[in-house]
Amino acid sequence: MYPEDIVEEVRQKNNIVDVISEHVRLQKKGGSYFGLCPFHGEKTPSFSVSPNKQMFYCFGCGVGGNVFSFVMRYENATFKEAVKILADRAGVKLPEIELTAEMKKKASEKSILLEINKEAAKYFYYSLRSPQGKNGYEYLQGRKLTDDTMKAWGLGYANMYSDDLCKYLKGKGYSDEMIVKAGLASRREDKGMHDKFWNRVMFPIQDMNHKVIGFGGRVMGDGEPKYLNSPETLVFDKSRNLYGLNFARSSRKNRMILCEGYMDVIAMHQAGFTEAVASLGTAFTIGQASLLKRFTDTVILSYDSDGAGTKAALRAIGILRDAGLTGRVLDLKPYKDPDEFIKNLGAEEFEKRIDNAKNSFYFEIEVLARGYDQNDPQEKTAFHREVAKKLCTFTEDVERNNYLEGICREYMIDSAGMRKLVMSVVNQTGLGTPVREKPRSGMAASNSPEDGILKAQRILITWLCEEPDIYKSIAEYISAADFTDELYGQVANELISGIESGGFVPATLVSRFEEEEDQQKIAQIFNTKITGLDGQPLAMDSITDKEKALKDIVLKVKENSYEYHSKNLTGDVASIDEAIRGKKQLEKLKMATIRL
Ligand code: GTP
Ligand code: MN
Repeated sequence: MYPEDIVEEVRQKNNIVDVISEHVRLQKKGGSYFGLCPFHGEKTPSFSVSPNKQMFYCFGCGVGGNVFSFVMRYENATFKEAVKILADRAGVKLPEIELTAEMKKKASEKSILLEINKEAAKYFYYSLRSPQGKNGYEYLQGRKLTDDTMKAWGLGYANMYSDDLCKYLKGKGYSDEMIVKAGLASRREDKGMHDKFWNRVMFPIQDMNHKVIGFGGRVMGDGEPKYLNSPETLVFDKSRNLYGLNFARSSRKNRMILCEGYMDVIAMHQAGFTEAVASLGTAFTIGQASLLKRFTDTVILSYDSDGAGTKAALRAIGILRDAGLTGRVLDLKPYKDPDEFIKNLGAEEFEKRIDNAKNSFYFEIEVLARGYDQNDPQEKTAFHREVAKKLCTFTEDVERNNYLEGICREYMIDSAGMRKLVMSVVNQTGLGTPVREKPRSGMAASNSPEDGILKAQRILITWLCEEPDIYKSIAEYISAADFTDELYGQVANELISGIESGGFVPATLVSRFEEEEDQQKIAQIFNTKITGLDGQPLAMDSITDKEKALKDIVLKVKENSYEYHSKNLTGDVASIDEAIRGKKQLEKLKMATIRL
């Protein structure tokens, strides 16, 4: 990565208000600028840009960060790419990043493999359009692909000869070794070099920057295997790429559609659903889910409507959930897959199915229900117990209740009975409260005590940032260690030492984190509405009210901190001293009056 001081120089030379104004129309309101959020659809502006903090934050969807975060999100760039873009914009020269010999060798092998793939794709592409490609061309036409579509996806044809791609590539100067490493051929003792693909229509697989990283080849008609895919290579990681993402990433719809096959993706794009992607002949992975998360919060699953497709969909739902994505499941019946559906019923009907896509939890329950005979009392009871177990995975009461009501309505279950069942499951498994494996993504409001504590910590950080003067009134009670969330602690540490040394720019801190998620979390910390613990806005003109609210917040943070640290005592003398000191401070704080 680039040195910190250069990153900071680039940041300072790109005023966030100017950069964002190039893409979003902003209007000044008080000390901030407001506009329509480019990251979610809205009619009234909740997207704010602060020249003082040099940060942006959307009160609607919760995205935020500094100027790098904005470019990362807006241009779908990595942190490093964003630094580069903004350095170019401001005319800052970036240093070359030093590579080790090992890294250089790998980088040059990678670039050779990419060149070979590109040459091969060209070769297949021209073959399809030559007389010998007639079969392939007619096959694709028969599958209702237009010339434009075939061109856009670079579709091609591998002919009947089993060594002519090798000959072609060798003619271009590539070694046998690299052609084999690219996965396009194998060397056999008896026959020498031997093409991997022949007599198939070819689907070049591109990464999201349009680079060809592998191929899928389909037999024309029946035959085994139906599809042959490139093996994984130095440039082809099947778990971290998605077919069609190079186009889907810029579809700017607020969803992605996940399909199973290449043909599905192409048919969908041809019908206008340019947000469709597919995994690469292997099961959907968490790496692919995080890739999707860069572009959307909602994924519509459009898997085959048979048993295998259902099973794959259930797996994918779990993965999406772990990644913090909302999954919804399409019903394509009576057709097998999206390609066939669109051919038969058209895009408009497909759009309707999307509107009616099932929430993934309901889908899971529906699949579960199929396994039980609802007319058999014993099976019915077993089904209800399974439903109760699944409901326990929601930590949030309101959410769990809404699902409970919805499901009881749909399956005609008595909801009071279901509630009892949920409680008994909770008691049996010995959990204090129902737990769910992972919190949902984003800003979902939660009323858990833990959230209240984090909120108090956030309010205090925002407040300190906006009115650094209050620090001297609370300095004797508060330190960075009182912020028990790891990231909050880091932020508080920087903030406090910044205030003590007389200067702190939150936007600088954001650059220390390369992950969008961390940047967003920091933006959230610095954009918390300053309220009392009851959520009521503060009467900032009444100094005593303000003092009282501040004390409540500091006390809450401190109480939690004491509890947290005494729970995590290591048993050595120092940590016990620390706990005692904490207790004393807490007692003192309780009696004290904070004066501003
Ligand atoms: P069409 O029959 O051409 O419409 O195929 P499809 O797009 O409907 O694909 P299907 O649902 O049969 O398979 C989905 C994906 O699984 C394909 O795009 C391939 O990536 C992969 N796949 C299918 N068949 C095979 C096979 O025989 N071998 C391997 N390795 N992968 C396959
Ligand atoms: Mn198909």
